Amino acid sequence: MEEQRKKILCVGLVCLDIINVVDKYPEEDTDSRCLSQRWQRGGNASNSCTVLSLLGAPCAFMGSLTAGPVANSELSFILKDRPDVKQFPVCSYILEDFRKFHIDVSLVTEHAQCILPASVIIINISTGSRTILHMNRNLPDATANDFSKVDLRQFKWIHWEGRNAEEQVKMIQRVELYNSTLPQQQKITISVEIEKTREALYQLFAHGDVVFISKDVARHFGFQSAQTALKGLYGRVKQGAVLICAWAEKGADALGPDGSVVHSDAFPPETLVDTLGAGDTFNAAVIYKLANGGSLQDALTFGCRVAGSKCGFHGYDGIAEKFTDG
Ligand code: ADP
Ligand code: FRU
Repeated sequence: MEEQRKKILCVGLVCLDIINVVDKYPEEDTDSRCLSQRWQRGGNASNSCTVLSLLGAPCAFMGSLTAGPVANSELSFILKDRPDVKQFPVCSYILEDFRKFHIDVSLVTEHAQCILPASVIIINISTGSRTILHMNRNLPDATANDFSKVDLRQFKWIHWEGRNAEEQVKMIQRVELYNSTLPQQQKITISVEIEKTREALYQLFAHGDVVFISKDVARHFGFQSAQTALKGLYGRVKQGAVLICAWAEKGADALGPDGSVVHSDAFPPETLVDTLGAGDTFNAAVIYKLANGGSLQDALTFGCRVAGSKCGFHGYDGIAEKFTDG
């Protein structure tokens, strides 16, 4: 396949986000009304696909779905013993939304008898903060066995949202083996995101050409800035890799094999309204730029521009009109 037309694959979570927009964060044990309420397709890898697609990159999502009811909902208890009750609306909503954004879902595995992960989210438009309550009761992640069936020739870049790391390492090893047979320009670039502070995820450091870490992970290792985290953690990545750390309103930093730290300031929008998925947006925009031959500095600045702009509107749709030309 011609290199230009090859897709970017994101492996990870898709879930239902039930978003409650408020103008004041509620007090505990009070009863208040939201300004608005909406459903959104969520999950880091799924959100990054949305942004890649809006930026104009052909992309695919690999993960799990179920036609069963939603976690976080009383309904799941009621519906679990009632196979006669129609249980498909949320699953169809998610698949329909993937289609709306032209995201290839042919690598999605459906699991019967599971409950769809869901997040109940409070977005405070006075600050842009997002508070997430997530539940994944029993939906399994994609496995190395699922991945063994993937035709790798269609991809130029594969991104893993760190989750079931042991399986993910096996998936990556398959790509490394495939890459070893190819000339440089045809190799698949491997990126990983280590967002959560879970010991098992840290094995992913050694497996990405590009490794994204969150400020939570940086802090977990005792670092108080992106720059010190990059310097302190660079020894964990493989030779030649790039380590990237985003830090909300402080922007983001990256460190590559030449040893110099690259920085971009954040690009705060006029009014902060919705920071949900800012990190997923940043990752997607950085991958987009690097996959299209941009420098590390270009990619970091573009990542911060797109993510900052996203914080100024609800959801992701606004990205298309502002950034489609990259
Ligand atoms: P998340 O918490 O969603 O993982 P981060 O806090 O790591 O996201 O931020 C990712 C990127 O989003 C930052 O590098 C920055 O460019 C942008 N961003 C996030 N929050 C803000 C903000 N308050 N103002 C401007 N840009 C922001
Ligand atoms: C945002 C997000 C949401 C989802 C949650 C899962 O980064 O992916 O869409 O509900 O995180 O942790």
